[in-house]
Amino acid sequence: MHTLKSTLALRLLTSIIIMVPGKYNTWLSVQMGTKAVLCCPRIPPTSGLILTTWKIHLRDKPSCSMSLNRETNQSGKNNCTDGRISWASRPDQNLELQIHPVSISHEGDYRCEMGATDGNFEHTYHLQVLVSPEVTLSLEKNRTVECKAIAGRPAAQIFWAPEGDCVTGKEYQDNGTVTTRSRCHYPDCNVSTVTCLVSHPTGNRSQSIDLFAGRLTFCKAMGLDILLASIFCLILCLLNLSSFFLLDIGLFFIFFPHVQYFY
Ligand SMILES: *[C@@H]1O[C@H](CO)[C@@H](O)[C@H](O)[C@H]1NC(C)=O
Ligand SMILES: *[C@@H]1O[C@H](CO)[C@@H](O)[C@H](O)[C@H]1NC(C)=O
Ligand SMILES: *[C@@H]1O[C@H](CO)[C@@H](O)[C@H](O)[C@H]1NC(C)=O
Ligand SMILES: *[C@@H]1O[C@H](CO)[C@@H](O)[C@H](O)[C@H]1NC(C)=O
Ligand SMILES: *[C@@H]1O[C@H](CO)[C@@H](O)[C@H](O)[C@H]1NC(C)=O
Ligand SMILES: *[C@@H]1O[C@H](CO)[C@@H](O)[C@H](O)[C@H]1NC(C)=O
Repeated sequence: MHTLKSTLALRLLTSIIIMVPGKYNTWLSVQMGTKAVLCCPRIPPTSGLILTTWKIHLRDKPSCSMSLNRETNQSGKNNCTDGRISWASRPDQNLELQIHPVSISHEGDYRCEMGATDGNFEHTYHLQVLVSPEVTLSLEKNRTVECKAIAGRPAAQIFWAPEGDCVTGKEYQDNGTVTTRSRCHYPDCNVSTVTCLVSHPTGNRSQSIDLFAGRLTFCKAMGLDILLASIFCLILCLLNLSSFFLLDIGLFFIFFPHVQYFY
């Protein structure tokens, strides 16, 4: 009874893995720099495989193909010149195609065609190459922050918490990557820490920054403009009276190393 059950389970599993003649399509996303291995359809052992051909169609390039004749175990025509695309191992043993390392130029369609005595099997992979963007977050003058997701593919999306007064844009690079850039202004004093959220298929990331970090800033509190550094200015002015002017300037830059100008 137990054996019957496991036999049935095995049959079911086998029937899922092994395909029937026909065409199959898969969308596949792989990260740049990694190794991608694409499989041909798993045909039933009784199918009498004759010829297997990988047809590769990359964007802006002539298509190329490589094939294996199972009856002679001889590789046939192979006019794919990109050395990073090859059989994963000895084609007489394994018909998988390998791309290593994957680059943006490998985006395109890869089709394994198998001609067998009981019909044709075809599996096409639509390969999309992902590039993880580099994320930076910087504080500029006047409570403005800039978040960048540099050279990602596809373009990253940027969200903010809390929402500010933002302008977001994209720059398309020649190599197919996109830089997303978002600048936000936070005029109100009630916002001290802001977080930039970068959403991307290679993984979401976030970075936070303190708007008050060691800088002279104006902000709006309850409708009034407050100069936060005014207290420090007052101290400096008082110290100036005591003629230690140069020392004071030095002290000022120790306390506010990023100050670029005075209000
Ligand atoms: C490979 O051969 C096919 C068919 O003969 C041809 O259409 C294609 O342009 C060739 N590709 C390259 C890269 O030479
Ligand atoms: C081709 O290779 C396969 C796997 O290595 C083997 O089973 C088969 O007998 C070989 N056929 C011929 C004609 O050499
Ligand atoms: C694409 O170009 C940008 C800017 O020139 C560069 O920063 C990035 O590293 C490049 N990425 C790839 C994958 O070539
Ligand atoms: C700082 O931003 C406010 C907008 O909230 C603007 O009115 C003001 O002119 C800006 N100051 C400078 C120096 O850019
Ligand atoms: C900050 O204050 C402004 C104006 O009073 C208000 O609109 C905003 O929702 C407040 N933001 C937060 C994060 O409390
Ligand atoms: C990344 O963020 C987006 C938008 O917030 C969300 O839809 C997606 O599920 C997130 N992905 C992961 C892996 O957390």
